Amino acid sequence: MRSADPAGGAGFVLRAARAGDEDAVAGLVAQAFSDDSHRPGLAQAWPEDPAVLRRVAERTGDGALLATATLRLAGQGWGGRVVPAAALAGVAVDLTARGRGVGAALLADAFAAARAAGALVVALIPSTHAFYRRSGCGTAGRRPVYAIASHQLRALPRPAVRLVHRAATPADAAAVAALVAARSVRGNGGLDHDVETGGAQFVSERAGRVVGWCALRRRPSTRSLYTVVVHDLVAADAEAELAIWRDLVADEPSASQVHALLPTGSLLEHHLPRQTEPVEDSTWMLGLLDVPGALAARGYPAGVSARVRFDVDGTATTLHVADGSGRTAPGDPDADGPAVRLSGADLASVYAGHLDPVAAAHAGILTTDPSTAGLLRTLFAGPPAVLDRPF
Ligand SMILES: CC(C)(COP(=O)(O)OP(=O)(O)OC[C@H]1O[C@@H](n2cnc3c(N)ncnc32)[C@H](O)[C@@H]1OP(=O)(O)O)[C@@H](O)C(=O)NCCC(=O)NCCS
Repeated sequence: MRSADPAGGAGFVLRAARAGDEDAVAGLVAQAFSDDSHRPGLAQAWPEDPAVLRRVAERTGDGALLATATLRLAGQGWGGRVVPAAALAGVAVDLTARGRGVGAALLADAFAAARAAGALVVALIPSTHAFYRRSGCGTAGRRPVYAIASHQLRALPRPAVRLVHRAATPADAAAVAALVAARSVRGNGGLDHDVETGGAQFVSERAGRVVGWCALRRRPSTRSLYTVVVHDLVAADAEAELAIWRDLVADEPSASQVHALLPTGSLLEHHLPRQTEPVEDSTWMLGLLDVPGALAARGYPAGVSARVRFDVDGTATTLHVADGSGRTAPGDPDADGPAVRLSGADLASVYAGHLDPVAAAHAGILTTDPSTAGLLRTLFAGPPAVLDRPF
């Protein structure tokens, strides 16, 4: 527990939330976010879920809660490996306490708590980019939500083997968890965690095997039509995914459109007869809570051997890569060999494959020589990172 005395007088302590804090936390979140419907998992996690860490700032003296933040521990796929991660949401400082350092102190505390729980990286969806950037987070990717006309989905090609869809039951949990785990290592940024998404949930079977899972809700759009909002969709392969999209509204003539964030590696866009523009687009951010740990835990392209020294915000770490794996050691700032100097926030963007090291070197964002920039591009290349599951 740490304390601080923000300008203006009132001090505060940072601590884990406990029983009895529920109403004050809910009040802070409601005040900061008029609509928290995109955080269904966290809304249902209260009060105790071992994978959820809730931190609060409590004013000394009267014990009023000034701020709250919530982390969900999860795995996150990077380069074909699952890296221990935390997903951060619901960061809210009371209106009367903003601009006095409470938010920055809360964020530092939340990151330390996540680190102590084993997380090496943190993922979040910012509404205030600058606030997170100054704490070492960098842009990792985009989250486009598409509005797809139902008739486009109904026109998708029929799968060779029909899927059977049915309501999910608790007995499907292990099969769904296996689908999620397999997908998080296929792409970058995918979260591997068990989350209660709410809404209707169904599983899809092919020849008696669970090959898909989807959570959705129906939202009225006009008096007689409604929109199907897909919270989460996980499929074993591209064929299963396409069949789920096709069947999603096949028997629902009054479902006019589907709103969905396309999952990692989705080929849906390529199959739609007409181009579809996102109706919502936001970025997501990544922070490396432990630079050597995060660099060592991810996967790298097979067949690349490398040794690079990273000077990150004044601390040197040397990364050795061989056979798709990395290991790190404290770097010697005076050693010769490939080296790169950059901020922690920019390293997070490189790690996510979002910031191209060659372009970043040209732009002066990172300092290195052209061949090391090219090597970094090879090491961190991958499909665009998608934070595709609710948390
Ligand atoms: C964003 C929020 C958490 C910041 O809390 P806060 O206590 O006011 O922040 P701090 O006073 O600790 O500010 C820390 C730093 O972030 C910067 N910052 C804070 N809010 C910012 C904003 N909206 N835009 C740009 N920078 C911001 C501050 O300038 C400060 O930087 P500095 O030290 O270089 O001057 C708070 O304003 C809030 O609850 N907002 C509504 C909910 C929200 O947006 N949550 C976060 C997004 S999920």
